[in-house]
Amino acid sequence: MPKITIDDHEYKAEEGMTVLQVARANGVQIPTLCYHPSLKPSGSCRLCAVEVPGRATGKRITMLACILKVKEGMAVKTRGEAVKRARTRAFKNLLQMAPQSKTILELARAYDIDPGPPPDGCVRCRLCIRVCTEIVGPGALKMEKRGGMNFVTPVEGLCIGCATCANICPTDVIKVDDHDNVRTISIRDEIIGKHPLERCEGCGKLYATPKFLDHIHKRTSAHTDVKTPHHYCQTCAKLFSDRVKSFTDHVQR
Ligand code: FES
Repeated sequence: MPKITIDDHEYKAEEGMTVLQVARANGVQIPTLCYHPSLKPSGSCRLCAVEVPGRATGKRITMLACILKVKEGMAVKTRGEAVKRARTRAFKNLLQMAPQSKTILELARAYDIDPGPPPDGCVRCRLCIRVCTEIVGPGALKMEKRGGMNFVTPVEGLCIGCATCANICPTDVIKVDDHDNVRTISIRDEIIGKHPLERCEGCGKLYATPKFLDHIHKRTSAHTDVKTPHHYCQTCAKLFSDRVKSFTDHVQR
C-alpha cells in the first residue's frame, strides 16, 4: 500500500489509484471539470495540475492529478507558483472556448485564479480608431489599457453618429441600433454615441444624425462646388442630382 504526501501531509493510497482519487478521498481540493468518477479520466480540461518530482531528473514538474498514478513516497504539491501558472493557463484556455460559462468563472474564483477579461470579439486591428480619426475626423475612439490589456473605448462626447466605425469593423463587435428615431452606437456594453436621427427631406426616411450632417456641412462648405445644403439620404441625393444633370443636358442641347 503506497504512501504519498500531498502538501506535506502523508496519506495512504491503494495500488493503481490516481493522485486525484487520493486527494478526493482525503478532502484535499483540486479543481476538475472533465473528471467523472464513473468514467476513465481523459486529461482534457487540464485544471487538475499538481506539482511532483519528475521521474528522470527529480526536478519538479506539473502533471495532471486525474491521470497521474500514485507511487510510493511521491511528494505532491497542489499549491505554489508552478501549479498556479498551469491552472491559470488551463482556465484561460477553457474560457476562450466558453467565455460565458459561470461554472468555469466561479471555479477560477474559488481557486484564486484571475482568468483575465473575457474575449470581447475585438481583434485590436484599430481600423475603427483610425477611420474615425484619420478620415471622418472626430476621434471618438481610443485604445485604453485596462487590467493589462488594450481595449477600444469611446472618447466621451466626440461621436457624431456616422457609424463608419461599425461599417469598417471586420468582426462586427461595434453595433449600430437605429430604434425609435434614435441611433445608438456601442462596443461591448459601452455606448460610443447616442443620437437622434434626421429624416430625409426627399423620401422621409430616417437617415443621419444632426451632428454628422453638421460635421459634413462644416467640412464641405468652403468647397466651390457645394451649393445650398439639402438634407437628402444617399438615394434621394443621387436621384435629384441625376435629374438636375439630365435637365441641364437637355437645356444645353
Ligand atoms: Fe480535467 Fe484532470 S480533471 S484534466
